[in-house]
Amino acid sequence: RRRPVIAIDGPAGAGKSTMAAHLARRFGFLNLETGAMYRALALKAIDADIDFTDESALMELAEQTRIGLEPQREGNRVFLDGVDVSRRVRDTDVTSAASRISVHPRVRAWMVDLQRVMGKQGGVVMEGRDIGTVVFPDAEVKIFLDAAPEVRGGRRYLQVGPSVAAKPEEAIIKELKERDERDRNRAESPLRAAPDAVTLDSTELTLDEVLSRAEAIVREHV
Ligand code: C5P
Repeated sequence: RRRPVIAIDGPAGAGKSTMAAHLARRFGFLNLETGAMYRALALKAIDADIDFTDESALMELAEQTRIGLEPQREGNRVFLDGVDVSRRVRDTDVTSAASRISVHPRVRAWMVDLQRVMGKQGGVVMEGRDIGTVVFPDAEVKIFLDAAPEVRGGRRYLQVGPSVAAKPEEAIIKELKERDERDRNRAESPLRAAPDAVTLDSTELTLDEVLSRAEAIVREHV
């Protein structure tokens, strides 16, 4: 029997990465951020000047691409064809491109195959949009982390730093909403809670409260 898989899904800016890193440290699991993989392929598509709506061209690109995740204490380092692109993939152009390329069924299938290989031994906290529904529908623990868009945007704004944020808070909230809408409305693997997921809404909770609830959920199942 494999070690447990902890699936964490939810919209952008809900705090999934923070939760995943915390649980991974607490329980000694590897922490894998699947969003970083979509971001890495999106970066390559930008550099190769590929149209984000051209699924065949994106697949041709994917077939020549190696994406690696290296779990750290906080988050993942991301490698694209052996090059560390951890910082670059967080830029807004890559964020938007990742959201656009992730609607394509064949792109998703390619990612899901890789993610299943990465997680098949278990002992992982995997974070994304479709982990509990598609990647590991038999995950031992599934958490769907949600929060009101204004709260998610506000937190993201503080995280980026109001002084260095290129965009005011409202623009960040608008961008999060657009990405969520695309994730929720795509035909392939739309963002939604798995029927057997525990939903945590962090709108009215402090970070400590969210983390201790998540920990309690994991303890029940592990
Ligand atoms: O989680 P993160 O914000 O890094 O993900 C970037 C984008 O990649 C998301 O907006 C989403 O469209 C896509 N994504 C996805 N499925 C996942 C992880 C990310 O579609 N499992």
